[in-house]
Amino acid sequence: MRALLHSVTLTLLWNVAVATVPYQAYILAPPSRTVRPVSIFSQTGSVSSANALLGDHGTEGGSLVLKEFNSSVTYDFGKNIGGWVNLNTSSSSGSIGVTFSESSLWVSSTGCDATADSGLDAPLVFNISAPGHFQAPWDKERGAFRYLTVVNEGAGQVSVDDLWVHFTAMPHWQDDALRNYSGWFHSNDEQLNRIWYAGAYTNQLVTIDPRRGDALISLGTVAGGTLDQWSLNTTITNGTSALTDGAKRDRLVWSGDMSIAVPGIALTTFDLISVRNALDSLFVLQSPSGMLPYAGYPFNERGLISFTYHLYALIGVANFYLYSGDKSFLDGKWAAWKQGMEWATAQIDSTGLANVTAPNDWLRFGMGGHNIEANSILYYTLNLGIMLATDEGETTAAQQYAQLASRIQQAAVPLLWQPSVGLFRDNETTTLAPQDGNAWAVKSGLVTNASQITAISQALEARWGPYGAPAPEAADAVSPFISGFELEAHFMANRTAAALTLIRRMWGDFMLDDPRMTNSTFIEGYSVTGALHYAPYANDARISHAHGWATGPTSSLTTFCGGIQLLSDAGATWTIAPQPGDLSTVDTGFSTSKGKFSSKWTKSGTAFTLSISTPKGTRGTVGVPLPGNYNKALLLGGPQTASVVHGDASGRYWVSGLAGGEYEFIAIAL
Ligand SMILES: *[C@@H]1O[C@H](CO)[C@@H](O)[C@H](O)[C@H]1NC(C)=O
Ligand SMILES: *[C@@H]1O[C@H](CO)[C@@H](O)[C@H](O)[C@H]1NC(C)=O
Ligand SMILES: *[C@@H]1O[C@H](CO)[C@@H](O)[C@H](O)[C@H]1NC(C)=O
Ligand SMILES: *[C@@H]1O[C@H](CO)[C@@H](O)[C@H](O)[C@H]1NC(C)=O
Ligand SMILES: *[C@@H]1O[C@H](CO)[C@@H](O)[C@H](O)[C@H]1NC(C)=O
Ligand SMILES: *[C@@H]1O[C@H](CO)[C@@H](O)[C@H](O)[C@H]1NC(C)=O
Ligand SMILES: *[C@@H]1O[C@H](CO)[C@@H](O)[C@H](O)[C@H]1NC(C)=O
Ligand SMILES: *[C@@H]1O[C@H](CO)[C@@H](O)[C@H](O)[C@H]1NC(C)=O
Ligand SMILES: *[C@@H]1O[C@H](CO)[C@@H](O)[C@H](O)[C@H]1NC(C)=O
Ligand SMILES: *[C@@H]1O[C@H](CO)[C@@H](O)[C@H](O)[C@H]1NC(C)=O
Ligand SMILES: *[C@@H]1O[C@H](CO)[C@@H](O)[C@H](O)[C@H]1NC(C)=O
Repeated sequence: MRALLHSVTLTLLWNVAVATVPYQAYILAPPSRTVRPVSIFSQTGSVSSANALLGDHGTEGGSLVLKEFNSSVTYDFGKNIGGWVNLNTSSSSGSIGVTFSESSLWVSSTGCDATADSGLDAPLVFNISAPGHFQAPWDKERGAFRYLTVVNEGAGQVSVDDLWVHFTAMPHWQDDALRNYSGWFHSNDEQLNRIWYAGAYTNQLVTIDPRRGDALISLGTVAGGTLDQWSLNTTITNGTSALTDGAKRDRLVWSGDMSIAVPGIALTTFDLISVRNALDSLFVLQSPSGMLPYAGYPFNERGLISFTYHLYALIGVANFYLYSGDKSFLDGKWAAWKQGMEWATAQIDSTGLANVTAPNDWLRFGMGGHNIEANSILYYTLNLGIMLATDEGETTAAQQYAQLASRIQQAAVPLLWQPSVGLFRDNETTTLAPQDGNAWAVKSGLVTNASQITAISQALEARWGPYGAPAPEAADAVSPFISGFELEAHFMANRTAAALTLIRRMWGDFMLDDPRMTNSTFIEGYSVTGALHYAPYANDARISHAHGWATGPTSSLTTFCGGIQLLSDAGATWTIAPQPGDLSTVDTGFSTSKGKFSSKWTKSGTAFTLSISTPKGTRGTVGVPLPGNYNKALLLGGPQTASVVHGDASGRYWVSGLAGGEYEFIAIAL
C-alpha cells in the first residue's frame, strides 16, 4: 500500500512537471522506449501485408510475409532513432536479415550504412528454428537509423508478426520520461521551432549507455570483404550514461563536440550527469604534464595530441560549473584544471602567442604555428580561468591568466588581421582566412573593435553558398560544428538577420528538409556542393547524421533570440537581452538548480512587450529592444514608472541591478 501510494504520488508530480513546460508537441523523443515504424519507404521481391507492421497495426494480428529469397521491405520510422531491433515470427524456419540506415541514400537490403572507413556494415541476421520473439544481441544496438530493411535471407517464405525497436538513448532516464525537458522554445517561425527541438533530440540520441561505445578495432569483413563486422561493446566512461559525439559513430567522448552540445543540453534537458561522466573520463586520462587526451578511451590509445581539444576539455569544466553551479565539482577538478592550463600556456612563445605543435583538431588541415583559432580558444579559456580562479579564491592565478590573455590579444591582431579582407588569416605564412579562427576571434572576445567584428561577420556572410557557410580550412567542407560558432559571431555582431538566415538555410532548408536527411537530427558535415560527402572521410556512408556538435542553433536561439545569458554559477547573475531580428514572437526558457529562467516577447510595429522570469535570489540586467526607428520610446513596467528612454547603439535600453523575479516591460515607439 505504501509503495502504491508512493508511485501514485510520483505520477502526479510527474504530470505536474510536464504540464509546466509548454510546446511538448515539438519534442521528438518518443513517449515510450517501444518504437514502431510509421511508413513504408520501399519494397522489393514478393511481399504481402507490409503495412501490418506499421504503428500499432503490429499488435493487431496481421503479418508481413516475405515470400522468397531476397524479398524485402524498408520501413521508415519518420525520424532518427536508436536501439535494439525486436521481431516476432510465426515461421519455424528460415532466416531474416535486418539492415539500418540514417540517410535514405544508403538504404539497401544487403548492408547497413557504415561505421568504418570503407565498405558497409553487415546486416543483423536472425536464424529461425522455432516461432517466437527474436531480439538483437546487446552489442548489436544500432545507435542511429531512420530506415530499417527486413529481408528474407533464406530459401522459403518467412513471416514477421510484430517489429519494434527498444529505444536505448538516454539510458538513465525513465522509460516513459524521455520527453522530460526542462527547456522550451517557440517563435512565430515554425522552421526555427523544429530546429531547436531537433537539436535537443540530437543531443539525446548521442547520450548513450557507456558500455556500448565503439570498440575501434577492425573486426574483419564478411561476404567477400565488402561488409564490415560491427560491435558496440566498449566501456568508455564510468556511470550509467555518457555524452558522446555521434549516435551511430564514434560513440566516444570528444571534448570539442561537447563545447557545442553542452550549452544545448543545459537549455533543453539539463542532463548534466552525462556531461560530467564524459568529462571525468577525459580527466582520468590526463598525463603528468597536464595534457588532456584528444578523445576518451579507447581512442586515446592512438596517442594523438590536440592543442584545441585539450582546451575544449578545460572549457567543458567551466561550462559544467556555469550551468550546474556545482562548486564541489569545480573544487575537485581545480588542481587538474590549473595543470592543464600550465600545459597549454607552456606553448606560448616570445611573440605572446601559442605556437601549436599538437595539430589534431576537428579534422581541418594546417592547425599549426601561430594559429588564430587555437589562440582565440586559448584567449577564451584563459578568461574562463579568471572566473574559475576568482571563485576558487586564487587571485594570483587569475592575474596571471589575465596577463597572458592580454598579451595574446595584443599580439594576434597586428600579426594576423587582414584589413583589406576583413578577416584574420590562419597563421603568418598564409592568406587563407579560416572559418573557425574568425568565428572564434569574435566568440572569444579577442576582437573588441566593433568595426572589425562587423567586418568579420560581413565577410563570412559573403562566402556563404546555397548550402551554408564554408570552412576553407577543411577543403570543400561545410562544418555544422564550426558554423555553430559562426552563428554566435553573427549574433554577437548584432547582425541578427544574418544569423537567422544562416540557421534557416543550413539547419532548416538543408539539414532538416533535404530528403536525404533524417528530418529530426543534425549531420556531422557535408560538401559545399550539397553532396553528402565530408572532406575528411573516404567513405560517405560513414557520415554521422546525429552529431551533438551540429546543434549550435538550439543554444543560440535561447541565448540570443530569447536573450537569456547566464553569467555565473547556475544563473546567480544573468543578462536578458533579446535579439528580435525579423521575428515577431519568441517564448523560451529553461531551469537550472536555482530555478526557472524565461523570456517571452512580442514585437509589433510600434510596441515591444517583454515578460521575464528569473529565480529569487539571483540578480541581473535587462536590455529591452526599442521598437521603431528612432531609438526613443516610452518604457512602461519594470522597477521604473513610465519614462521616455533612448536606446544604445544596438537599439536597446538597459535596466540593471534587477533582483530575480517576474517583470514585464512595454516599450512604445515615440
Ligand atoms: C511479440 O512477442 C512478445 C514477447 O514474446 C509478446 O509480448 C508480444 O505480444 C508479441 N507480439 C505479437 C503481435 O504477437
Ligand atoms: C537482392 O536484392 C537487391 C536489391 O533488390 C539486389 O541489389 C541484390 O543483388 C540481390 N541479392 C541477391 C543475392 O540476389
Ligand atoms: C545463420 O545461418 C547462416 C547459415 O547457416 C550462418 O552462416 C550464420 O552464421 C548464422 N547467423 C547467426 C547470427 O546465427
Ligand atoms: C524530470 O526531470 C526533473 C528534473 O529536470 C526531475 O526532477 C524529475 O524526476 C524527472 N521526472 C521523471 C519522471 O524522470
Ligand atoms: C567486442 O566484440 C568483439 C567482437 O565480438 C570482440 O573481439 C572484442 O573482444 C569485444 N570487446 C570487448 C571489450 O568485449
Ligand atoms: C572509472 O573511474 C576509475 C576511478 O576513478 C578510473 O580509474 C577509471 O579509469 C574510470 N573508467 C573510465 C572508463 O573512465
Ligand atoms: C598555416 O596555414 C596554412 C593554411 O591553413 C596551412 O596550410 C599551413 O600548414 C599552416 N601552417 C602550419 C605550421 O600549420
Ligand atoms: C613552432 O615550433 C616549431 C617546433 O619547435 C618550430 O619548428 C616552428 O618554427 C615554430 N613556429 C613558429 C611560427 O615560430
Ligand atoms: C577599429 O578597426 C578599424 C578597421 O580596422 C580601424 O580603422 C580603427 O582604427 C579601429 N579602431 C580602434 C579604436 O582601434
Ligand atoms: C552589439 O550590441 C551590444 C549590446 O548593445 C553592444 O555591447 C556591442 O558593442 C554591439 N556589438 C557590435 C559589434 O556592434
Ligand atoms: C518533418 O518533421 C516534421 C515534424 O517535426 C513534420 O511536421 C514534417 O511533415 C516532416 N517533413 C517531412 C517531409 O516528412
